[in-house]
Amino acid sequence: MPRSLFSRLTVPRRAGDDTVVGVVSLFAPLGFVEEGKDLVACFREGDAAVRAAAALGSRGIRSSLVTDIAEGDPLEAFRAASRPFSVGERFWIDPGDPSDAVAPAGRIALRLPASRAFGTGGHESTRLALLALSDEPPEGLAVLDVGTGSGVLALAAAALGAARAVGLDVDADAVFVARENLGRHDFGGRVALLAGPLSAIGGRFPIVIANMLPEEFFAIRKDVLARVEPRGRLILSGIPLDRESAVVRRLRSSGFSLGGRRAENEWVCVCLDRVS
Ligand SMILES: C[S@@+](CC[C@H](N)C(=O)[O-])C[C@H]1O[C@@H](n2cnc3c(N)ncnc32)[C@H](O)[C@@H]1O
Repeated sequence: MPRSLFSRLTVPRRAGDDTVVGVVSLFAPLGFVEEGKDLVACFREGDAAVRAAAALGSRGIRSSLVTDIAEGDPLEAFRAASRPFSVGERFWIDPGDPSDAVAPAGRIALRLPASRAFGTGGHESTRLALLALSDEPPEGLAVLDVGTGSGVLALAAAALGAARAVGLDVDADAVFVARENLGRHDFGGRVALLAGPLSAIGGRFPIVIANMLPEEFFAIRKDVLARVEPRGRLILSGIPLDRESAVVRRLRSSGFSLGGRRAENEWVCVCLDRVS
């Protein structure tokens, strides 16, 4: 998992705390915390922490410095406690730390350690999109996954036989995670990733899949629809149940017909076929 580093400068507390805070503040710490008898300043930049320690030293104030500490990962405990689970008939998803756990016979393993990137299959919208892909596997086809997050849908498409899948996200951190996830799968070689806007991608695809909220989708609707080739299919997930009919109505008026739908709890995924 990608992590940020930080440094801790520990100064024993005593009457001169104001001087310590005043001197250390000159080096732009992230903040101060009191730990028992110590005052701890945390820094993002290790260099700044070293200079702060030197400035204290020149005033006869002792301190101890630890640099390059990996910031805690809030999902560490979640990954440790999580267990693999099945989605539909085809997939088996492991959101835990990378392991050698083997998928049940006949199922495709998607190894997606929980991270800040959305898409470990825990959310209904991802599961519905995975089921829509499995309903009609994109064998031999090219698939565009708009808002790829962890890369889950692009990987699933490749696993189901897509000739190639392109995953794209405006969140560069998510694409970093997705790239790590590709390396965990043999079929990851058929997935290409891109961090950036949809306008950076040319061409049309027989299958375009997007799992995002309606407001996110409609903000880029023109670009998404332009990527669906004639008679191609748009799989759109992440639609709250109470907004389904409005979303479908708008897409019908853009030359698409409803080819299928699935719902789980309050979430809906629709398949729309380009008719004009
Ligand atoms: C709900 S997540 C879906 C992640 C994954 N595809 C899944 O099914 O679990 C939506 C993703 O869309 C991305 N996104 C939002 N607006 C976008 C846009 N205009 N272009 C590309 N990606 C976008 C977000 O950064 C986020 O990673």
